[in-house]
Amino acid sequence: MAAGNKIRINSARLQGELDALALITEATPPVVTRVLFSEADLRGRGFVKNLCREAGILLREDAVGNMFARWQGSQKNLSAVAAGSHIDAIPNAGKYDGVVGVLGAIEAVRALKSAGFQPKRSIELIVFTAEEPTRFGIGCLGSRLLCGALKAKRAAGLRDGGDLSLNEWRRRAGYNGKNLDSVRLEKNCYAAFVELHIEQGPILEQEKISIGIVEKIAAPSTLRMQLTGVGGHAGALLMPGRHDAGLAGAEISLAVEKAALTSGSPDTVGTTGIFKIEPGAVNSVPCRAWLEIDLRDTQIKTRDAALKRIEAAAKSICRRRGVSLQMERLNVDPPAICDRALVKSVAGICTKLGVSHRRMISRAYHDSLFMAQLCPTTMIFIPCRGGVSHRPDEYSSPKQIETGVRVLAETLALAASR
Ligand code: GLV
Ligand code: MN
Ligand code: MN
Repeated sequence: MAAGNKIRINSARLQGELDALALITEATPPVVTRVLFSEADLRGRGFVKNLCREAGILLREDAVGNMFARWQGSQKNLSAVAAGSHIDAIPNAGKYDGVVGVLGAIEAVRALKSAGFQPKRSIELIVFTAEEPTRFGIGCLGSRLLCGALKAKRAAGLRDGGDLSLNEWRRRAGYNGKNLDSVRLEKNCYAAFVELHIEQGPILEQEKISIGIVEKIAAPSTLRMQLTGVGGHAGALLMPGRHDAGLAGAEISLAVEKAALTSGSPDTVGTTGIFKIEPGAVNSVPCRAWLEIDLRDTQIKTRDAALKRIEAAAKSICRRRGVSLQMERLNVDPPAICDRALVKSVAGICTKLGVSHRRMISRAYHDSLFMAQLCPTTMIFIPCRGGVSHRPDEYSSPKQIETGVRVLAETLALAASR
C-alpha cells in the first residue's frame, strides 16, 4: 500500500462469518454440503451478498450466477484488480475450501477501507458459480464460461444426474434473465486476479511455512462412462453366462489406478470418485454402472498418455465381458502457469511482513486455472491441518487465515495502486 501496518484484520469477525456460513448446509453440521443452486447454495449466496452490501461494495450477477462486488477505484478507466473463490461445497465437505477466499477477500476489503486506503484501480470480489463438479460433472463452471474455455452452447447442453439442464437450474435459481453468451469477459479485463485458498495438501504444515504462492496449477481431466450389461437373478444366473456391468466397472477402476501408478510421473493421480450400479439389490446382477473418473497431472504429456490408456483399457474390459460402453471426456484441461510478476510481488509482500513463504504447485484445481487464461493470476495458499480437504474435519487456524487475509489485502492494495 501502502496502508502498511495500519491494516487490521478483524479475525474474530471473520471467524464468526466462517462459522455462520458453515451452518448453511444441506447436511448436518459440521458437515458442509452446498451443491450448486441447492437451497443451501442460494442461502449461502444471500449471506455473502449481505456482507458485500454491509461493506459497501456494489454487486452484479451474471447469467450463470457468478457474483461480482466492486469497490470503485478513483480511476474508472483502469482495469480492476480481482480476488475471490467459491462457496459451493461437495457432499461431505468442510467449511474452508473456497469460503476462506470469499470471506477473506471481503475482510481484506473491509480492512483496507478501515485503514483509509483509496484504490486507484477498482477492487472486485468474484464469487464463482460451481467450482465443484457435483451438479454437472464439470468443475469451474462459472470461470470456464468467463474465459471462454466452455462455450455457451455446450454449457446450455449440460445435464445433471436427474437429466435436468443447466438452463432449468438457472431458471429455478432466477439467473435466466440473460443469455449464457453474455457471461464471457474480455482478455485482460482485470489487471490481476488473486485467489486465497487453503492448500488442501500437507506441504506448508510439514515445512512450518505460513504462505504458499502458487506458480502452477495441475492439469485436470474427467471421464464419464456408462456401462450396460445384462442383469438377472443372483442365484439362477450361472457365472459363465454373466455380463456384469458392476464387475466391468470394478476392473476399469483398477485400470485407472494402474494407469496413474505406471505413468512414469509421480504427479499423476487417478480417482474413480463416482461408481453407481443398478438395480442395487443384493440378489440381482448389476445391469448398469456409471463411473466418473478424475485424472490429473502437473505435466500434460503424462496425463494425456494415462488418459488414453484408461480409455483403451475400458474398451477392452467391456469387450471381453460383453458389456456395452458409452464414454465421454467431460473436460481435459491444460495446466495454468501463474504470472511471474504477480508471484514475485506476493513474495515481496511476505518478506516485508516477515511472513515465511515458498513457491508451490497447486495439485487441486481452482477457478484460478481459468482466470489465468484471462489475466495475470496467482494464488495465496495457507496451511490446513494434516493437508486434509474435501472432508468435514478440514481445518485452518484463525491465525493462519488471518495471515492469508493480510497478505491478500496487501497484494490487492499494491496491485490497485499501480
Ligand atoms: C477442486 O475442488 C478440486 O477437485 O481440485
Ligand atoms: Mn473443493
Ligand atoms: Mn476450492
